[in-house]
Amino acid sequence: MQVLTHHSPIVLPGVAQRPALDHRPAYDGLVCEQWGDWRELKRQQLERQPLQPGQVRLAVHYAGVGFALKLIVAGQYQRKPPLPFTPGTEASGVVLEVAEGVVHLVPGQRVAAALDWGAFAQEAVVSADTVYPVPDALPLGQAAALPITYGTTGAALEWRGRLQPGEVLLVHGASGALGMAAVQIGRSMGATVIATASTEVKRNAALANGAHHVLPPDPQTLAASVKALTGGRGADVVFDPVGGDLFDASLRSTAAEGRILCIGFAGGRIAQIPANLLLVKNIAVIGFNYGLYIGWGLQDERRRHAPAVQALITRLFDSVASGHMPAPMTEHFPFDDWKVAIDTTMSRRSVGKVILDMV
Ligand SMILES: NC(=O)c1ccc[n+]([C@@H]2O[C@H](COP(=O)([O-])OP(=O)(O)OC[C@H]3O[C@@H](n4cnc5c(N)ncnc54)[C@H](OP(=O)(O)O)[C@@H]3O)[C@@H](O)[C@H]2O)c1
Repeated sequence: MQVLTHHSPIVLPGVAQRPALDHRPAYDGLVCEQWGDWRELKRQQLERQPLQPGQVRLAVHYAGVGFALKLIVAGQYQRKPPLPFTPGTEASGVVLEVAEGVVHLVPGQRVAAALDWGAFAQEAVVSADTVYPVPDALPLGQAAALPITYGTTGAALEWRGRLQPGEVLLVHGASGALGMAAVQIGRSMGATVIATASTEVKRNAALANGAHHVLPPDPQTLAASVKALTGGRGADVVFDPVGGDLFDASLRSTAAEGRILCIGFAGGRIAQIPANLLLVKNIAVIGFNYGLYIGWGLQDERRRHAPAVQALITRLFDSVASGHMPAPMTEHFPFDDWKVAIDTTMSRRSVGKVILDMV
């Protein structure tokens, strides 16, 4: 087992440097030329750029579509790439070329990656710190969902929520990309999982992926329903990527000493927190931003966090590859249908993770 330090690159035993796998001088990608609506993205031919030290060039086979895309392209995300840019932050594919200083990856290797931007193209350049080797048993089409969707969820539940075996986990948006990951990871961590989702199809998907109980996301009835399922105690940990009225109802659905993970605001409203409710039941509301660990924070700390993140992603890959956890549920669209794929996510129709097939 290799021990990683904050500044040492990750070295896999038996992996030797190989020359670049070269193919095309130009490739296709989506481009955001100005801040606005995601439908204004354009598919264009892009020129290859030289690699900087520490970078890796990937042939992107699959790219994950995330809910934050809308905000990033509108220029409303906490982080703004320089215009023009190619959006997309999650990918899987094959290493084409590695720059100086990269020793844990070689051309030809199957990998998944968390990108600053650039995944919606047939090639991408990415920092080696956020590139993760994929086990042979795991198809690349599923691996594309792991670097951010499952990384976020696993880190939130393990590092910040400190979910314990036997605890009750309440997951909102449980058929969405993050919510489905929370159902699967929470179950694999030994929790009893209560999942909320808005339609019967979505609730059935949550049950099929490991939820013990499902509920509609009704803020009026949530607390009573959760208490009825938990002998009056409530949930120990709440995973909330939806926010709004559901967050408010979660405060009333939580057990004493419960932890609410504030993950996102897919419902559109950022909830305000009445501190008296926290005090009365010793509840902790925990903000969680995975970006901090992969270089998207106010300071770029991806190098410092790389060993912990690499270990987490490797554990998640192994859990899926060994069958301990179900494979990510993915819905695939060809690159030509990128508008349909993005619209499926943005219009609340997706179940699991939406993936663009780039090759
Ligand atoms: N904190 C972090 O580090 C981090 C990382 C990645 C993503 N996020 C955020 O987490 C949130 C969820 O991301 P995701 O990829 O899981 O999205 P997703 O796949 O679209 O799932 C979101 C779920 O939210 C529910 N929802 C409720 N109201 C909605 C509305 N008005 N529009 C759309 N969905 C609505 C839907 O479930 P029902 O239909 O069942 O209600 C949907 O399945 C986003 O806000 C995203 O930006 C945060």
